[in-house]
Amino acid sequence: MAKTVFITGASSGIGRALAMELARRGHDLFLTARRLDALERIRADVAAADPARRVEVRRLDVTDDGDVANAVAEAAQKLGRLDIVVANAGIGNSGRVGEGNLERARLIVETDLIGAIATIDAAVALFRRQGGPGQVVGVSSVAGVRGLPGSGSYSASKAGLTTYLESVRAETHGEPVTVTTLAPGYIDTPINQDVKSRPFLIDAEKGARIMADLIERGVGYATVPRLPWTVLAPLMRVLPDSLLARGAPQRDSAA
Ligand SMILES: NC(=O)c1ccc[n+]([C@@H]2O[C@H](COP(=O)([O-])OP(=O)(O)OC[C@H]3O[C@@H](n4cnc5c(N)ncnc54)[C@H](OP(=O)(O)O)[C@@H]3O)[C@@H](O)[C@H]2O)c1
Repeated sequence: MAKTVFITGASSGIGRALAMELARRGHDLFLTARRLDALERIRADVAAADPARRVEVRRLDVTDDGDVANAVAEAAQKLGRLDIVVANAGIGNSGRVGEGNLERARLIVETDLIGAIATIDAAVALFRRQGGPGQVVGVSSVAGVRGLPGSGSYSASKAGLTTYLESVRAETHGEPVTVTTLAPGYIDTPINQDVKSRPFLIDAEKGARIMADLIERGVGYATVPRLPWTVLAPLMRVLPDSLLARGAPQRDSAA
């Protein structure tokens, strides 16, 4: 059944690919990010493939909490109602501990964790106002399963998001709200172009197809792709620090 979907961070990578995939499956979209020109190009690409699809675009910085709530309300008003809200916007490049990367750490937490919380909070409030079913989707990461070297603030933000979504799932129990946590492994997008080792890398289009399937099925939690990450995630929890440290960036690394 065709649904209306709100996506943050839709201008690039996973968000862009997911928008194209969901449009191909017949869903109408409200796409947000800071780069409006990139969103306009996606709207044109969707229109070229399927002129009947409705795509609205809006500039949104998820670190502006008030504007996140405004954007969600505006999307519901323009599309009639919102069925699915995807908190996808995120940044990486934590830098190493002990090198004073606090400004970057704050921005990562404000974008990847607080920005996602603001999006999810606005979505649940909207679903309650609308009545009827709604689905929130949080794009977390396998980097949230275990703190990775060189990714401290990123891993912490994603672990925080996964845990936050667990709370939302329990808190909305008995309400018609589906809470979906997606934890991708390595998907080929601009966020990880400087990362030297990207095991089990998949392209953004494949990632988007898998994510769209999981969203449509309303799963609670899934890695993307399921294999090998579903098997590797519990192993990551018990991997000795000495092995994990081998993936640490060198001290003079810019990553
Ligand atoms: N690629 C992977 O391997 C991988 C793995 C696990 C999890 N993830 C997660 O997947 C999500 C999407 O990342 P990606 O891989 O697609 O990277 P990407 O291509 O760099 O896309 C990141 C998106 O987030 C948006 N964004 C960044 N800061 C924002 C802000 N303050 N306000 C609004 N939008 C903002 C960017 O749009 P603007 O710059 O136009 O605002 C862009 O559309 C992120 O949450 C990331 O952590 C990715």
